[in-house]
Amino acid sequence: MRNKICNDLNNSDIGQSVDLCGWVDRRRDHGGVIFLDLRDHSGFLQLTFNPEDGTDLFNTAEKLRNETVIFVRGVINKRPEESINNNISTGSLELNVKELKILNEVKNNLPFPVSIHDYENTKEELRIRYRYLDLRRGKLIQNLKTRHNILKVVRQYLDQHEFTEVETPLLTKSTPEGARDFLVPSRISKGDFFALPQSPQLFKQLLMVGGLNNYYQIAKCFRDEDLRADRQPEFTQLDMEMSFITEEEIINFNEKLIKKIWKEILNINLKGDFPRMTWQEAIDNYGTDRPDTRYEMTLKDVGNILGNIGFNIFTKAIKSGGSIKCINVKGGNTSISNVRIKPGGDIFQVALDAGAGGLAFIRVKDNDIDTIGAIKNNLDESLIKNLLQTTNAEEGDLILLGAGKTEIVNQSLDRVRQYIAKELHLVDDVSANKKWNFLWITDFPMFAKNEEENRLEALHHPFCAPKLDLNKKESLQNDLEISTAKAYDLVLNGLEIGGGSIRIHQSELQKKVLKTVGLSNEEIDEKFGFLIEALEMGAPPHGGIAFGLDRIVMLIIGADSIRETIAFPKNQQAKCLMTKAPSNVAKSQLKELDIEITIDE
Ligand code: AMO
Repeated sequence: MRNKICNDLNNSDIGQSVDLCGWVDRRRDHGGVIFLDLRDHSGFLQLTFNPEDGTDLFNTAEKLRNETVIFVRGVINKRPEESINNNISTGSLELNVKELKILNEVKNNLPFPVSIHDYENTKEELRIRYRYLDLRRGKLIQNLKTRHNILKVVRQYLDQHEFTEVETPLLTKSTPEGARDFLVPSRISKGDFFALPQSPQLFKQLLMVGGLNNYYQIAKCFRDEDLRADRQPEFTQLDMEMSFITEEEIINFNEKLIKKIWKEILNINLKGDFPRMTWQEAIDNYGTDRPDTRYEMTLKDVGNILGNIGFNIFTKAIKSGGSIKCINVKGGNTSISNVRIKPGGDIFQVALDAGAGGLAFIRVKDNDIDTIGAIKNNLDESLIKNLLQTTNAEEGDLILLGAGKTEIVNQSLDRVRQYIAKELHLVDDVSANKKWNFLWITDFPMFAKNEEENRLEALHHPFCAPKLDLNKKESLQNDLEISTAKAYDLVLNGLEIGGGSIRIHQSELQKKVLKTVGLSNEEIDEKFGFLIEALEMGAPPHGGIAFGLDRIVMLIIGADSIRETIAFPKNQQAKCLMTKAPSNVAKSQLKELDIEITIDE
């Protein structure tokens, strides 16, 4: 339909007749001549309509609304010097239109201006509801192209290393990745359900049993969990699995892949090996297993200094087996006012929202301290000295303290730490030259206690191999529950971008682990019988990893939310605002499935 696209045009086209198609971006009338920007997928071009070129043409042009789809034929002219626009590549050119065809009218009022100039001022709910309009603005398309380019690098790299891309089923059985399943009722087996996969975990292991050797998949995964900026109910993993492989080999191989992506997409050379930290170190020093190491403010345990000063909350925390920990906000005396860290203040609230009962503080002033009386009255000089030393605090600093159950203290100080880092701009704003702090977290515990159900659960998933000498029978008997796993996560700037492990490939050990997380023999047989059976038929040692592709793209493009990396995302309530899914289905469909809906008021 056209012989040029906007961004192909340059000075050599001046005087030529060209055919272009696209959308009306903006129009400006300048007494007599109509100026209009044409937009296509490549860029923009200014169109001009002169009354002398025919009344019909001029009148049609006058009525063009934004986003009308048009065909234009005309002659490329050089723009007068004073109207050259250096912001666009065709800024020195314009098309004097001789022929105009309307390919499609715009019937309704647009919910928001598509024109790039108004990009920032549109509510996200509207952008998701009219995603096709939002896409037309260009920025999202750029994000999708970056995503595509990342996948190209990934596919090329894995292909070079003899990986085979295999699709695994979407209608399947529940795999325990720690979230709720999305269920799909079966029409043929009445009363039974498929689960959409939370990951291809067991299928990729079975491919190893099948002798595939190196598998990968750009895999859609489904998890019904609370949504955040970095979580979608359906998301994409770059999933892989390898046979006869060690933890070290998987880590090194994937480090190379990540470096390749950063080099090819951002032209950034990530130098040296990515640092590593054990899970325990991460929890102790940052309160989380995905620490943001771009800034300090690490957590310090001050239980031995403050546990005995007679301040009730501290005493109780230590007596009940909990902790007193703190972070030191450098220069916090001036940058953070009391209003913010006392009840009602925003920082205090962050701690509360993370489950803490409160937040105590100590301001360091003139080698003395300023804090609530109950703490101050009981702190003698040597304790203060010890405290300042442990926290590396000096005049002008602010120490924020949490006391109570260790997990809660860790969780709340982690949140406070992140919140303050953002407030005080401790990291560069999202931009191309920001720091890339990659970090492997290793040595995860095999199990964590589920307090509510009073049982152990797998910290990753129950297919991770323990770091145990399996030749020693006693070791398996005694140490499994307290063992660490051959598991690793890759964290980037405080976000978990991937995780994996060496898997269990022996049926007995697999059964033991499943029993440890509370499954009976019958349940093991019913839920994982197929896996146990396969492990008994010559399963090779194997392991793998999965990266959150959406998160990687989000970090690379510098977006705040993974929704910016997904063509048609769900909103925070897990709804597709465009198609209005999820939605009612016809009674006849439910009847076919033998399903009746009763809504419990
Ligand atoms: P895991 O559960 O750690 O491991 O998931 C791997 C990676 O997927 C990303 N991710 C998500 N991204 C967006 N929205 C979500 N709701 C979401 N949930 C997870 C994260 C995470 O690191 N089968 C194992 C992998 C393995 O052991 O090989 C698994 O799924 O970036």
